[in-house]
Amino acid sequence: MSDHSGNSGTSHSPTTSGSETPRRNFVVEGATVVISLIVGVVPFAAGLLSFLDPLFRKNQTPSKHTKGEQGGKTEMVRICSLEALPPNGPPQRFPVITDQFDAWNFTAQQPIGSVYLQRISDSEVRVFNTTCPHAGCSVSCDGQAFHCPCHNSSFELNGSKRVSESGRENPSPRALDTLEHTIESGDVLVHYQNFYPGREEKKPKA
Ligand code: FES
Repeated sequence: MSDHSGNSGTSHSPTTSGSETPRRNFVVEGATVVISLIVGVVPFAAGLLSFLDPLFRKNQTPSKHTKGEQGGKTEMVRICSLEALPPNGPPQRFPVITDQFDAWNFTAQQPIGSVYLQRISDSEVRVFNTTCPHAGCSVSCDGQAFHCPCHNSSFELNGSKRVSESGRENPSPRALDTLEHTIESGDVLVHYQNFYPGREEKKPKA
């Protein structure tokens, strides 16, 4: 049976053929995949780069002798010049100031503790952490000995435990904590560390 235009009873879209539909679907699906990749991969790649950034910065050290803390380990820190310490003078207290950085953060010139330095010859220096080994208070020095105000520990200038004149027991379990150090180009460099208080053994904190 024919209509007035002369077409048969079966109708067809004027622009869609049997082969064009799959082709259009293929293009749409392809575009969807590309957009999905862009939306998903770009943020992932940015996050991955940010995560790996410390590895790329690994060898970027701020300056010689101010390397600060890396993974919990403090490098040698310059404290002062040797000339600043009078030979056989009393111990002097200095802050330890250094750059600090871990895998993701860098902070320049932060105080991380303090030390007592005493020059005992032309080329030798005693170096102590100022923290009391008993319970972590800060010791002072009157030029004759070190004293802790918290529970009355006291120490000789060489760091050893002092016998109390009153006969009271010295509560500190060990001598003052010495620190590794070296003298380089006229400067005193110290490997600053803190140690667990309240123990006979000198165990560095991580
Ligand atoms: S903390 Fe120094 S004596 Fe107790």
